[in-house]
Amino acid sequence: MDPVKVGICGFGTVGSGTYAVLTRNAAEIAARVGAEIVVAEIGARRGCEDSDVGATAVNRDVFAVADNPEIDIVVELIGGTTTAKDLVLRAIENGKHVVTANKALIAEHGNEIFAVAAEKGVSVAFEAAVAGGIPIIKALREGLAGNRIQWLAGIINGTGNFILTEMRDKGRDFSDVLAEAQALGYAEADPTFDVEGIDAAHKLVILASLAFGIPLQFDKVYTEGISRIAPEDVTYAEELGYRIKHLGIARDTDNGIELRVHPTLIPVKRLIANVNGVMNAVLVQSDAVGPSLYYGAGAGSEPTASAVVADIIDVARTLGATPDARVPYLAFQQSALSAHPVLPIDEVETAFYLRMSAVDRPGVLSRVAQILSDEGISIEALIQKEPPEEANLVPMIILTNRTIEGKLSSAVAQIEGLESIVGEVTRIRVESLAG
Ligand code: HSE
Repeated sequence: MDPVKVGICGFGTVGSGTYAVLTRNAAEIAARVGAEIVVAEIGARRGCEDSDVGATAVNRDVFAVADNPEIDIVVELIGGTTTAKDLVLRAIENGKHVVTANKALIAEHGNEIFAVAAEKGVSVAFEAAVAGGIPIIKALREGLAGNRIQWLAGIINGTGNFILTEMRDKGRDFSDVLAEAQALGYAEADPTFDVEGIDAAHKLVILASLAFGIPLQFDKVYTEGISRIAPEDVTYAEELGYRIKHLGIARDTDNGIELRVHPTLIPVKRLIANVNGVMNAVLVQSDAVGPSLYYGAGAGSEPTASAVVADIIDVARTLGATPDARVPYLAFQQSALSAHPVLPIDEVETAFYLRMSAVDRPGVLSRVAQILSDEGISIEALIQKEPPEEANLVPMIILTNRTIEGKLSSAVAQIEGLESIVGEVTRIRVESLAG
């Protein structure tokens, strides 16, 4: 087979890592593909003066790479949804295959991009868009292809997990750890994407689309970040035998699909509760294999490049095949949309951790318990602390049994209306993650 020519657009952390892996492992990769992979051109708006790219041509116009008739595969590593989207559509229009690490692009514009790619008979591969170096897309598409997937739950934002881990292990302050995550290059250009759950929501819709064969529906994900988690919530959760993790959860229920990203209490004994720092993990529950857990580096230059290069190899292997034999990456039917509607968060069922500050006088607990009971919510566990010296407010922590979110919201509104409860009630969802 002739050499396969690749154009890399975007030469930041992931672009330079991809170039490094392709160059360092060129012999092994050529043997696996049955053809040499050549980086024919790099598109970098700021050039590549600080990097050693040998004699590889560098073009400051990334669209010129998409128009280069020699190139078979355009690798989009620019990020964002503006230039990156135009570039990907241009490459597809030119009949080129695309590899991208861009989760926002796939989550928000994937339906359009895949439709155009199908018309043109080209592949769009996106393994690096979710969980960095963990081959979770290939696991869902290939390794678990014979299974019916019931649910999946993932720690899919490394920055958020790093922050929660440091808060728990070292009692560090939220903003201080976030600043370190930014300095270490884990965080998005706009770190709100990490701490408010947007990045995880992008990744979750991609996983759900593959798991359940539904279109990408970013606008339907319930998204809550970690910015309101207080150090005392982390401590109380541990006292109750739980750990707080920021999870993306997708579940196929009889009524529809749950798609949600939020801090979650999970039993400390679960493996996924012990995934720390910037590491990612995705737990998949499926009918044939049961639970399976995928763990690894969720961010960083070469871990993400590992996934990009795997996609380049995958696409290169199909170049010898007929267009009909190329596997469509997201084959779904529009009917799947009505058969599997995404549920509003008010209809989702989970257990809850509630923390509130109560005035230290008799009867408060019974009033709170009465409100919960009137909504049909039962209490699983309770912690009530002595008030600190000379204070008359006591922290009260309640773990509920599973309930519908709408009922819990109604109860919380009533509890917050009690004269003896001061401030807002903190609520965090609880998942057993049992198979
Ligand atoms: N900001 C992302 C994270 C990078 O922290 O997970 C990898 O997608």
